[in-house]
Amino acid sequence: MSSASLNVEIRRIRELAPGIREFSLSRTDGEDFPVYSGGSHIVLSLPLGDRPHRNPYSLLGDPTVRDTWRVAVRKQEESRGGSRWLHEQAREGMRIDISAPVNLFPLIRTGRRHILVAGGIGITPILSQARELARLGADFEVHYAYRGPEFGVFSNELEALAPGRVHHYVQSRREQIEFGSLLAGRPLGTHFYICGPAGMVAASMNAGKSLGWPESHLHSEQFLAPTGGEPFDVKLALSGKAFTVPSDLSLLEAIEQQGVDAPYLCRGGACGQCELEVLGAEGELIHHDLYLSADERASGKKIMPCVSRLKGGCLTLNL
Ligand code: FES
Repeated sequence: MSSASLNVEIRRIRELAPGIREFSLSRTDGEDFPVYSGGSHIVLSLPLGDRPHRNPYSLLGDPTVRDTWRVAVRKQEESRGGSRWLHEQAREGMRIDISAPVNLFPLIRTGRRHILVAGGIGITPILSQARELARLGADFEVHYAYRGPEFGVFSNELEALAPGRVHHYVQSRREQIEFGSLLAGRPLGTHFYICGPAGMVAASMNAGKSLGWPESHLHSEQFLAPTGGEPFDVKLALSGKAFTVPSDLSLLEAIEQQGVDAPYLCRGGACGQCELEVLGAEGELIHHDLYLSADERASGKKIMPCVSRLKGGCLTLNL
């Protein structure tokens, strides 16, 4: 893994709602976890078949609690196996490897006010951010949208952290966040943070920009799950490896399976850490990431192997 790996035991599994499970993890060496910052995620290495399957999940507990880390996982029906394994095969007492925490969604501590917005399972990084803000005595509010009353799984924890400052939006009651009014007329120095479905994130960003919010005050997190696709061939120019990426593996996973160490942080197309230089592409690069600019995509010189692929013949990478 690109960051230090820790072996942990699944101490407790809680069924929070249909298709949502929470996992409490403790180190198997008896040591404490490091303190992390609100918004951090870890990567779980899950034992699927003959290779580990690595998925990122946000830490949702109290960042200062060092004997237990908590993550919540929504079962993705279209999953290639990671969330399904966690829902169908994971048991208390099992051991898995996890990465050290990485924060791609940090709070801006100098902010004068903080607006936190969560859609569905996007509540997980927002919850740890809310804990951090509550501990700092910061001025913040939370807007939590979910499908039906049974899916507001962290409502009580949020209410305890921010009494009177948590706003609920229940989709089955036709309640939704109006980003135009939420973001209008906010005082200078306000920061906005959102984690949720792509359409919701895009709507909030568009509303903020059209209201004149500086981009530096609009923060979002969105991890994409790698999608499968047609197999394609890869040549690694530096290591001399040549192999085929099968339809059910990402390019990054296929590179790792060759024993080649490739960098990554989010494994979800968001951070840019896994960027590789394309030396040649016989076919069309299919970019799924959220990182490359339109010009970078058009250049055909870069690819994010955690989520993007080639449609066609052979891809040659400077690796
Ligand atoms: S690991 Fe973050 S974009 Fe690929």
